[in-house]
Amino acid sequence: MDYQNYISGRVRGIKPSGIRKFFDLLDGRDNVISLGIGEPDFVTPWHIRDAGIRSLERGYTHYTPNAGTMELRRAINHYMERRFSLSYHPEEEIVVTVGGSEAIDLAIRALIETGDEVLLPEPAFVCYSPIGQLTGAKVVSIPTSAETGFELSPEALEAAITPRSKLLVLPFPNNPTGAVLEGETLARVAEIAKKHDLIVLSDEIYAELTYEGEHVSIASLPGMKERTIVVGGFSKSYAMTGWRLGYACGPKEILKVMTLIHQYAIMSAPTTAQYAAVEALEHGDEDIEVMREEYNERRLLLVEGLNRLGLTCVPPKGAFYAFPSIKSSGLSSEEFCEKLLLEQGVAVIPGGAFGAPGEGHVRCCYASSKEDLTEALRRIEVMLGK
Ligand SMILES: Cc1ncc(COP(=O)(O)O)c(C=O)c1O
Repeated sequence: MDYQNYISGRVRGIKPSGIRKFFDLLDGRDNVISLGIGEPDFVTPWHIRDAGIRSLERGYTHYTPNAGTMELRRAINHYMERRFSLSYHPEEEIVVTVGGSEAIDLAIRALIETGDEVLLPEPAFVCYSPIGQLTGAKVVSIPTSAETGFELSPEALEAAITPRSKLLVLPFPNNPTGAVLEGETLARVAEIAKKHDLIVLSDEIYAELTYEGEHVSIASLPGMKERTIVVGGFSKSYAMTGWRLGYACGPKEILKVMTLIHQYAIMSAPTTAQYAAVEALEHGDEDIEVMREEYNERRLLLVEGLNRLGLTCVPPKGAFYAFPSIKSSGLSSEEFCEKLLLEQGVAVIPGGAFGAPGEGHVRCCYASSKEDLTEALRRIEVMLGK
């Protein structure tokens, strides 16, 4: 059978993630230090795990309402009010999803039709572009660069807009660059979104991991709440990747459609995770603080070490990645990563996996112990022959 004849043309156009390829190379190797995967090395704080366990003991093993338990949606609203001065109606403006990933998928599928243009600052997390392609979107990359701290330039954004532009993805704090969007730049981006009548998909999954100043959501700027979908989640800030829980908040007309798709595709997000998430939102601030402080120390250690080795690194202000330039090595990002893995047993991800503007860089995740980061730096130094 020629299965290719059966596979949808839209899927055939999608390449496997450049991250996955490196995990395949990792398989079966010993003594590897992985700075590759983007997940906390912390285990979910005990009181949050305990809330999940208690829900199981009480027999809460059924589906929840499609949009999530009302208790959790209320807790999300309180959290958004408390942390970002944003208020969302729990009944109409919040949907609980399977990770932030599903929230992104729902938002794009709810809005995009064939030929619509999705504006995407790159480098960026790997999912936006393929999901956009699956809906028939034209994904328009807006390159950001180390020279400008990987911030989105309002001029470049405006230049990329056409009459078909519908959705602006704002992936800040950014994976893989660690850039944040703030102050004057954020305000100018908001003005452009209003002027050109764009909807903004603001992926704020790393909002709590901001090291210099406080995270500001674009939705909290004047006139922006009505045109912004905020994506949040539990994976990064509460070390809950395996629980698979996230959410989207936004205008009720859009959330209604997102919830409709979610209802048919998923039914409801994991029940145990929803009970644990209420505990996280209501009593997890201190855990976030402890983890953020630890990531901050690791961030400073890694960035200093990379710069010392000539791998120039824009200081990341958020998330848990450093994105150094590897141009001084004379290698492409892929060559650098393969050599580092095969010769020294250190896994990092080629920058090109996050869009063409990422070439010439590699992503190093610092959600690893200081001992591992120090040893990884030593091995990189050996590889570079310093
Ligand atoms: C920027 C960004 N958004 C969303 C996600 C999805 O996270 P999850 O589905 O675990 O909530 C990730 C995961 O790496 C990410 O880096």
